Amino acid sequence: MTNKNKYFVANWKMNGTNKSINLHKKIIQFAKKKSLKSNIIYCPPYTLIRSFVDIFKNSKIKFGAQNCFYKDSYGPYTGQLSSKMIKESGCDYIILGHSESRAFGDNDKIINKKIISSLNNNLKVIFCFGETYKEKKDKNTNKIINKQITSALKNVKNRNNILFAYEPIWSIGTGKILNNSDLESCLFYIQKLLKSKFRIKKPIILYGGSVNSYTVKMLKNVNNIDGFLIGSASLNVNKFIDIIKKTYT
Ligand code: PGA
Repeated sequence: MTNKNKYFVANWKMNGTNKSINLHKKIIQFAKKKSLKSNIIYCPPYTLIRSFVDIFKNSKIKFGAQNCFYKDSYGPYTGQLSSKMIKESGCDYIILGHSESRAFGDNDKIINKKIISSLNNNLKVIFCFGETYKEKKDKNTNKIINKQITSALKNVKNRNNILFAYEPIWSIGTGKILNNSDLESCLFYIQKLLKSKFRIKKPIILYGGSVNSYTVKMLKNVNNIDGFLIGSASLNVNKFIDIIKKTYT
């Protein structure tokens, strides 16, 4: 049982229609509960952000985008969206460095530029990092985490506006998660790194990868998790609410 203020980030990826917004309206009532100490953040595809924000205005729900272009403001970049535009559309957050975006071309250097641009435009960054199965098997997890975080934070000043989402790639969409003690030692490493090397006093660390109604029963007992980044289970509002409820019971 926890009474901590936790983050629940719904990463919808390339899913959702206008109809999905109406289906998710019931979370507005749920979020009103006084006893609920949580930050609920929806990250739908770009096409749904504006409608979502309008329909959910006056609610406690916040919004985020799933990526942006690395150039600031406006310009001749066909097909791209800047962090400034994302802020203007009503978002407070942005996911950057997700392994699926990395797989389609985002490298450490580009991710670092996107982080700087997003922070400059007053977005809070949900920065994702994590190892592949091979890297885990070769016992390179800490090395990879260190490399990804170090390059993400290069020349970044406002580090307190970053949430650090540890997402082992082999765990995303597979139903597999680390056992609690391995996950705890990994999170301990991340926390220590952020505090000692990067001078972040109270780092916010999320976990992502196959978080659902079943796995959350175990995950909620892991120390040092400040919240969850939830993919497929967040598409169904009942499942999403269930994860939040189970975190607190
Ligand atoms: P999943 O996705 O919950 O479907 O595993 C998590 C993510 O990719 O952020």
